[in-house]
Amino acid sequence: MNTNQNILTDTFGRAHQYLRISLTERCNLRCTYCMPAEGIPLSPKSHLMTAEEIYEIAKTFVDHGVTKIRLTGGEPLVRKDAPVILEKLATLPAELAITTNAIIVDKYVSIFKTCGIKNINVSLDSLDREKFKQITRRDYFEKVYANILLLVAEGFKVKVNVVLIKNFNDDEIIDFINLTKELPVVVRFIEFMPFDGNQWNLKKMVSLDEIMNTVFKTFPALDVARLEDASNDTSKNYGIKNYKGSFAIISSVTNPFCDSCNRLRLTANGQIKNCLFSSSESDVLSALRSGKDITTVIQKAVQAKLKVRSGMNTLEKLKNPELHSKNRSMIAIGG
Ligand code: 5AD
Ligand code: SF4
Repeated sequence: MNTNQNILTDTFGRAHQYLRISLTERCNLRCTYCMPAEGIPLSPKSHLMTAEEIYEIAKTFVDHGVTKIRLTGGEPLVRKDAPVILEKLATLPAELAITTNAIIVDKYVSIFKTCGIKNINVSLDSLDREKFKQITRRDYFEKVYANILLLVAEGFKVKVNVVLIKNFNDDEIIDFINLTKELPVVVRFIEFMPFDGNQWNLKKMVSLDEIMNTVFKTFPALDVARLEDASNDTSKNYGIKNYKGSFAIISSVTNPFCDSCNRLRLTANGQIKNCLFSSSESDVLSALRSGKDITTVIQKAVQAKLKVRSGMNTLEKLKNPELHSKNRSMIAIGG
């Protein structure tokens, strides 16, 4: 191990500046692609990071070069002490962002503002109330939609995450793009990915190519602009001429973007995941609790990071349930 190197730079030279922290494994929705119908066994509370521990671990990452922190879940805002955590993390010199299902976001507008949060990603997979109910197993469409409008009106930069599932919501691609005509949001279509218990199979996934074919059937090619992607962006960005918003595609399955990956994940129970698809984890919380130097744990986790999708570098490997079912359910990873 090269000890002179920054502890957040891996063996492929990727510097990790982006930390995603899951605050909880709980959620007020039950999205079918995110968790099995029977739910997941929750970690006992004593195994979860406290607000103070989250701050301590995050601070170590920031001290070593992390410049952006995104809070995820489960649903991060169902955690009772979410305001305290937000306020603590806001004192660190890093950009703070959040991914939420937006159900209770209206109660957080002023806290987000005092914490300097500008970027909010909202998960919304259907613009149809019945379908929303089917996929989330809950009836909150109106609430979520109203809260997206509220966030936009309050000046936040909103990205709407749409996981596309064949023969379920792929007929809504154009409806979602039409939403960007008047609404300055980025709609991001996400290729459906395999995680433990989510009934994934390749036939259910809608690929980047299929999405673009649908787009070009509706919009003249000259009206579809390929926009510049931000650095380390996981998505390919597009806009329709004269529309206020834009859309993007996250193609983790057909076109992984691992070369420019700058992310690390911290689960609610204090495990570092060096990749969304990794089945091995590093227990930074136990190290912290036993008074050990957590930079060693962090460095080891980063050094162990593989080049592509935690070793599932081909579609064949991704299709192998032996490989992806060793991972957690998405609800326990945090997206
Ligand atoms: N495939 C793709 N995206 C997923 N998400 C959750 N599960 C999956 C999956 N199986 C996305 C949700 C949410 C984010 C946290 O992760 O859309 O926006
Ligand atoms: Fe909750 Fe998000 Fe999972 Fe849906 S995808 S169950 S909103 S954590």
